[in-house]
Amino acid sequence: MTALVDTWDLPAQHFWLRGEVPDQPVRFDADFGGWNVYGHPEALRVLGDPATFSSDTGRLVPGLASSTEGNLLQLDPPEHQKLRRLVSHAFTPKVMADLEPRIAALTNELLDAVTGGDRLELVNDLAYPLPVIVIAELLGVPSDDRHLFRQWVDAMLQSSEQISLVDRSEEQQRMVETALEQNRQFTDYLREHVADRRRRPRADLITRLVEAEVDGERLGTEEVVNFANILLIAGHITTTMLLGNTVLCLDAQSEQAAAVRADRSRIPAAIEESLRFLTPFAAVGRATTGEVELAGQRVPAEQLLMVWIAAANRDARQFPNPGAFDHTRDPNPHLGFGRGIHFCLGAPLARLEGRVALNLLLDRFPRFRTDPEAPPEFIPSPSMTGVRRLPLLLAP
Ligand code: HEM
Repeated sequence: MTALVDTWDLPAQHFWLRGEVPDQPVRFDADFGGWNVYGHPEALRVLGDPATFSSDTGRLVPGLASSTEGNLLQLDPPEHQKLRRLVSHAFTPKVMADLEPRIAALTNELLDAVTGGDRLELVNDLAYPLPVIVIAELLGVPSDDRHLFRQWVDAMLQSSEQISLVDRSEEQQRMVETALEQNRQFTDYLREHVADRRRRPRADLITRLVEAEVDGERLGTEEVVNFANILLIAGHITTTMLLGNTVLCLDAQSEQAAAVRADRSRIPAAIEESLRFLTPFAAVGRATTGEVELAGQRVPAEQLLMVWIAAANRDARQFPNPGAFDHTRDPNPHLGFGRGIHFCLGAPLARLEGRVALNLLLDRFPRFRTDPEAPPEFIPSPSMTGVRRLPLLLAP
């Protein structure tokens, strides 16, 4: 499959997708001014020790000075646990099971609306709108505003450059400012919804956050806004990528695709293998709180680490024949949803959306395949691995 991967316009930095192996599992990168962690055991070590490897990385990026208020992804214990507890009940297996009929109905509606005859563009027609509508409905923001969310998120992911801690060039400055400006528009939008729910509570997740109490105190507006922001962003683009990537992987492996089509109980395993093989959220950041030794390297305090879970998912020490897509791989301890206390809150939702959407695609289109004349396009951002355009042919 490596030869096929070579034909895709994947981010250049993702050498593991071309079958290349890092010379060291942990490496300092002078251009970026931080450390890259590529190995599976090393990634597990970092993700399993939040006291040494903090998630509050914003303070290390020049010009960012981000606030961790309500930002679950950047919080450390004990605040992290308090906030996480507030929303965990919104993603329980029972809540997910109740959502299944709505996800199926939405998938059918979106597929009914496809007007391309014997063609479908998977991202625009299904993989983008489905998860964004679901998370918008959960939060209680109008799903018709999804063109706005897309505009903001696309602008954040437009750059193919990685933010550097040492580069003070105008280009770097501009990248940070663009990301901040898009995020500002996003948070302004959410602030209006939060203010509205304070006045008029409804049966939605924003209202629940507004009314929730931590240690006897209600969350402040900024906390609710940032929390909703994380849920809205994390809740859709990654699932879009998961759907697109799984279709792409199966398309490249006709025997496995036929096996999955014939036996739908294989779909969850195909989704897990797709998360390993083309990991949507390619890297997570951490900051060292003190000096630490990692894979024989001395990493000083206050250093930024990029934990490339996408590369760890190709580590031959953990996954035999890592460059082969194999949905029968068992066990498959991939890190696609992270590990430890920050393990993806929305994993059950993403898995459910993936299973329902893939099942219905297979039901409705007995033969769909990629279009050799219109190859997939990938998101250029180095922290993501996922298609942003995937044209499919529906006729034999
Ligand atoms: C955390 C990936 C879907 C909400 C994470 C993390 C990863 C991840 C790798 C860990 C980040 C870290 O350790 O720093 C994915 C992928 C998805 C997906 C690949 C789809 C295939 C979702 C959905 C939602 C969601 C649908 C929301 C509805 C979150 C939240 C966190 C998180 C809130 C932070 C959890 C915490 O810090 O405790 N996700 N995610 N994700 N994800 Fe997801």
